[in-house]
Amino acid sequence: MSRLESLPTEFANIFGAPAEHIFRAPGRVNLIGEHTDYNDGFVLPMAIDREMRVAARKRDDRRVRLVALDLGGKRSEFSLDVIAREEAQRWSNYIRGVAWALQARGLHLPGLDLALSGDVPLGSGLSSSAALEVCAATTFQFFAGFAMSKVDLARLCQQAENDFVGMKSGIMDQFISALAVAGHALLIDCRDLAYQKAPLPRGATVVVCNTMKRRGLVDSAYNTRRAECEQAARQFGVKALRDVSLEQFAEREKELPPTVARRARHIITENARVLDAVAAARQNDLAAFGNLMNASHESLRDDYAVSCAELDTLVDLARAQRGCLGARLTGAGFGGCTVNLVRDDAVETFTANVAREYQARVKIAPEIYVCRATDGASIVK
Ligand code: GLA
Repeated sequence: MSRLESLPTEFANIFGAPAEHIFRAPGRVNLIGEHTDYNDGFVLPMAIDREMRVAARKRDDRRVRLVALDLGGKRSEFSLDVIAREEAQRWSNYIRGVAWALQARGLHLPGLDLALSGDVPLGSGLSSSAALEVCAATTFQFFAGFAMSKVDLARLCQQAENDFVGMKSGIMDQFISALAVAGHALLIDCRDLAYQKAPLPRGATVVVCNTMKRRGLVDSAYNTRRAECEQAARQFGVKALRDVSLEQFAEREKELPPTVARRARHIITENARVLDAVAAARQNDLAAFGNLMNASHESLRDDYAVSCAELDTLVDLARAQRGCLGARLTGAGFGGCTVNLVRDDAVETFTANVAREYQARVKIAPEIYVCRATDGASIVK
């Protein structure tokens, strides 16, 4: 029995009474549009068939008790009256942060017993933390019974991540985990959060390959990249790089410090690639879609400088396989996963060959996930 299936039994064993409900929220893979979300730009993620789950039971007091089943049953507990960060049990900050953000909006929450489990690989760029936040918010919403749109719920989870956990991430991960639609990607305009379903290329499969190199997002260059983008936007006199066209950039590129110019070029070209990719998906132009993914990786590697040797190796190996239409790093970078578009009939050989060749080169066995696009967060029936 998998961890997820045994969640109800484990909950009952730990808390001495059955869970009343189970909630789920999926991880995600971003097809294209990397680091554009915090530049008010466009992204094209889909939720994957890997998720975080929370089994829950209401309490009569204001305490929240947490057990992380995937971390060897680690426990944490807090009162809703004083919610502080917990350095020793950092995983609990995603739940604490969501409760904190909800109460900051004046919402009254009941105490809960919660057991957490999931099959989104942790710290691999598939948004396990956003999935946990969205799952927690969905759980609190159910038991507290307040009305909140899914878009606001996603915003609230981003606020928990930004202001409580301390990672200045954009909105993409929480948004897709909350609002995803099965069988589709979502084109999200991160300026006004308008979104629309986008078809997935037909005849091809989304395959995610994990370098098994864990990223340290908060410690990494993520926040520096943000600052460089803001500097570029100021130089152009606009609110965000979203407002700079390719022509305007070419005209004034020289006025920017070289590094800042490269960062800006990635964002501006990447925004254009997202819109082109949606057009390609609508016409089911697999080759065009794949080429845009490839160009995105080159731009992330050379201009945005967020790739690493393992990611580049995995991308190169993938592209050499028959039936691979495109390959790029996905998520923040610095390790984590690649996303690949592979012709349906080549998925099996692709998976076997990439696993073997990466292992031979890097001396680590990669994990490979053949992904299906799922719905956003929900209660488990
Ligand atoms: C992380 C962040 C997102 C986004 C991506 C890069 O996943 O949480 O908001 O910025 O990196 O596209």
